[in-house]
Amino acid sequence: MEKIVVIGAGYVGLVTAVCLADIGQTVTCYEIDEQKVRRLKRGQIPFYEPDLIKLLQTNIKRKRLKFVGNMVAGLDAASLIFICVGTPPRGDGSADMRAYYQVIDEIGHYLRDLTPLAKKVIIVNKSTVPVGTGRQAQLILDRLAGPDRAAVISNPEFLREGKAVNDFMKPTRIVFGYGSPDKDVRARTQAVFAKFVAPKINTSWESAEMIKYAANCFLTTKICFINEISNLCEKSGANVGVVAQGIGLDPRIGPQFLQAGIGYGGGCFPKDVLALRYLAKSKKVPSRLLAANLQVNQGQRDLAVKKISQVLEGNVRDKQVAVLGLAFKPETDDTRDSPAIAIIEQLLTSGAHVKAYDPVAGANAGRELGKYKNFRLIHNLHQTPARADVLFLATDWPVFKTLNWPAVKRQMRGATVIDGRNFLDQALIERAGLKYIGFGLAPDSLI
Ligand code: UGA
Repeated sequence: MEKIVVIGAGYVGLVTAVCLADIGQTVTCYEIDEQKVRRLKRGQIPFYEPDLIKLLQTNIKRKRLKFVGNMVAGLDAASLIFICVGTPPRGDGSADMRAYYQVIDEIGHYLRDLTPLAKKVIIVNKSTVPVGTGRQAQLILDRLAGPDRAAVISNPEFLREGKAVNDFMKPTRIVFGYGSPDKDVRARTQAVFAKFVAPKINTSWESAEMIKYAANCFLTTKICFINEISNLCEKSGANVGVVAQGIGLDPRIGPQFLQAGIGYGGGCFPKDVLALRYLAKSKKVPSRLLAANLQVNQGQRDLAVKKISQVLEGNVRDKQVAVLGLAFKPETDDTRDSPAIAIIEQLLTSGAHVKAYDPVAGANAGRELGKYKNFRLIHNLHQTPARADVLFLATDWPVFKTLNWPAVKRQMRGATVIDGRNFLDQALIERAGLKYIGFGLAPDSLI
C-alpha cells in the first residue's frame, strides 16, 4: 500500500485526506498553520462542511489519519504526495503559485537528501494550477533530486463546497494527467483510486490541467448565459424560471446551472475565469467569451444594487436594507468573492444602513464588513427584517423559506422583498401584502 501524504488542509486537501483515509488508505496531512493542526488533531474542522467532521473523527480514531505541522516529518517514507495548496488570484488575474512552488522545492530538497527508494515518489497535483505547471514541476524535481526520483501527475478535483464528501466519494469522472508512459507510476496511481466507480480519463499534464479550467469556465458561462436571458425576459414579459426549465429539458443543454440571479462567486469560479483569461492573454489567443463572462457576472451584482435603489426611490442613503445570506452559496460559511458581500459593500459606500443574517457565514462576513460603521450583523433570522425599508435575499439557504411572511410584513418599514436567487415563494409573499421582485420575472409572467 502507498504511504499517502496530503499537503495543505484547506478545502480540497482536507476532503482528500479524510476521504482517502475513509476508503482504507493511511494518510498523513501536513498543514503549515499550527493552530489549524491543533484543531484538526482534536477532530475540529476549520470551515463548515457538515458531513466531513464525522468522517474526520472516525478516521483519526481508526489511526488511518494524522495531522502534522512539520513538512519534513510528514514526508517521511511518503510514496504518494497530494499537493493541495491554495492558488489564489493575483492583481493581474494570474494564479499566485508561490505556495505551490515552495512545496515542490521542499519535496525536491527532501528527495535529494534521501537514500534513493526502489520506486518513484508520485507527486499528485490536486490544486488548480495553470496549464504547464505539471511539466514545470517535473523539471524542477528532476533538477533538484535527480531524474527518476519523482513523477508528477495532474489530478484535478471537481468537488463542490457543501457537497464535498459526496462529490469526492462519487465523482463524475477522475482525470489523470501524466508526463511519461511509466507503467508502474500509472498502475500505482490508479490503484489508489480503484474503489471509485467513475469514468477515468488518462491524458497529458496539459490536457488534465485545462480540463479543470474549462469545466469551471463552462459552468460560469452557463450561469452568465441564463442571466443575460433573464434580463431579456424581464423586459419582454417572459419568466426565466420557465425558460430555464424549457431549455434544460434538452439533454444537450441540461437543467443544472441555469439558476438566474445575482451570479456566481466563491473561491474557485471567479479566480479560474480570471486565470484562464490570463493564460489566453499571455498566449495572445482571443478570449472574448471569458471577458464577457466577467462583465456579465459583475453586471448582475450592479443590477441587484439598482433594483434595491429603485425600490428606495433612487436614493439608498440612510435607508435600512436587510439582507438574507452572506455566503457565496448555501451550505457553506465561505464568503470569498461572495455576491452578497460585494452588493452590501456597494450599498454601504453609498450611505445605506445594512443589517444581514446568515446561518453560518456571519463570522467570516463580519471580518470583511466589520470596518463599516453602517453595517450590522444580525444573529436571529426572524429579527432581520425589523424596520427594514427593503428586504434582499442574497443566498438561497433553505431556512429562509421558513420566514412567516405576514410577520415580516408587520416588522418591516417598507413592503418589498427582492429575491436575488429567484428562490422564495412569490405567491406566499404577495399574499402577505408584500411586493416581490425577482430576477428575470416580468410582472405578469407568473401563471
Ligand atoms: C465549483 C464547481 O462547481 C466545482 O465542480 C469545482 O470543483 C469547484 O468550483 C472548484 O473549482 O473548487 P463551488 O465553488 O463549491 O464549486 O460552488 P458551486 O456550487 O459550483 O456554485 C458556484 C457559484 O455559482 C455560487 O455562487 C452559486 O450561487 C452560483 N450559481 C450556481 C448560480 O448563480 N446559478 C446556478 O445555476 C448555479
